[in-house]
Amino acid sequence: MKWFKALNINQIPNANSIKTLEVNGKQLCVINNEEKIVVTQSSCPHAGGHFSGGWCKNGHLICPIHRYEYSLENGRGAEGQGDYIDIYPSELREDGLYVGFEESWWSKLWS
Ligand code: FES
Repeated sequence: MKWFKALNINQIPNANSIKTLEVNGKQLCVINNEEKIVVTQSSCPHAGGHFSGGWCKNGHLICPIHRYEYSLENGRGAEGQGDYIDIYPSELREDGLYVGFEESWWSKLWS
């Protein structure tokens, strides 16, 4: 796992809001769901909608386009959707929020 600093402490989104950003070449959403920070992919697997205009409800991220729902615990789409979103490991440290990415075998060759 390789960790990247995503935000300074003062940039972390307020409660129940979503911030989009790019970390290590990936577009991500940082979601503050009732004071719990979750980092997800930024585009919806249904039809590519952007989660930046979405919202959280009962532990789920709601896409603003067609209102598909994704669990903020495990990324699973609601029953009947048959899809999921990626949730990235994240850590709040003294100096900010860090996001972890799995290292691929080929990236290890070049480091
Ligand atoms: S694009 Fe997200 S629900 Fe359709």
